[in-house]
Amino acid sequence: KDAIAVLTSGGDAPGMNAAVRAVVRSGINKGFNVLGIKRGYRGLLKKDFVEMDLRSVTNILSLGGTILYTARSKEFQTPEGIQHAAQNCMDMGVKGVVVIGGDGSFMGARALSEAGVPCIGIPGTIDNDIACSDYTVGFDTAMNTAMEMVDKIRDTSQSHDRCSVVEVMGRRCGDIALQTGISCGATAILVPEVPYNIEKDVISRILETRKNGKQHFIVVVAEGVGGSVDLAKYIERRTGIESRATILGHVQRGGSPTLRDRVVASEMGYKAVELLAEGKSKRVVALKDGKIVDYDITEALNMERVFDTHLYEIAKTISM
Ligand code: F6P
Repeated sequence: KDAIAVLTSGGDAPGMNAAVRAVVRSGINKGFNVLGIKRGYRGLLKKDFVEMDLRSVTNILSLGGTILYTARSKEFQTPEGIQHAAQNCMDMGVKGVVVIGGDGSFMGARALSEAGVPCIGIPGTIDNDIACSDYTVGFDTAMNTAMEMVDKIRDTSQSHDRCSVVEVMGRRCGDIALQTGISCGATAILVPEVPYNIEKDVISRILETRKNGKQHFIVVVAEGVGGSVDLAKYIERRTGIESRATILGHVQRGGSPTLRDRVVASEMGYKAVELLAEGKSKRVVALKDGKIVDYDITEALNMERVFDTHLYEIAKTISM
């Protein structure tokens, strides 16, 4: 029997477990032996494989995090590391690897494919920053968590007539900030994709909305913009409105995945195994216009992300 393996790599994301489960179950269904690799590429270098069966993925759909653990490995990124990893796969009879992670993990998957081990990537990151895919596993859960947190912050912000600056994750991508900002009625949303002017896009907006009766304000700042503590101080100085900053941080990476994350992860896991069974290599699974598709990894890595400027304009118009 041929074996395939699955690993999770880079920052964890809710729904990774659902993807692992789909890979294990679809793999077994297609007649493969399925192995789990612990702690991503680092575990692969240590030959940390575990046999997976139908029951080893029972009751993990609703779990946050990743039962396979995850890591970032520097050693793997060297030519020797890649060769070593490929050899470990061959020793274990592994004919294909499904890599669940972000762009960095896909570069590893490409290198491993080129070293003779067919790999398929699944976009798993809360950031939604994979250009080839409209959606990455974990994004919906992270946004919903951020929304709940901002709702709670709004309660106290309103009671005190304050301005609350909330910084959300997303690395260089403003998608979590945009969606959370819209869902919470933020007065201003700052993202790295759209140039901004603090006077015009934050201070004036606050002062204008105060004129028409608003007395508490939410400003959502993407991690890629940063500086939320200084921004809160500046807003207070310029407007006289007492301001506080909250950096939401890793709370956004945890928790039980939403329905969307579980379903997309399941579809992508199934598709990844289908591709391996067809003898494909160096591909990445993506969601495009509502359909599960696949791209060559290099082609995918060269694509440019498109920020939803229309949605950003809507946010600006209606949060007054
Ligand atoms: O990629 C997910 C993410 O949470 C980003 O939003 C953030 O920039 C980064 O990972 C944080 O990484 P770490 O957990 O290593 O601090």
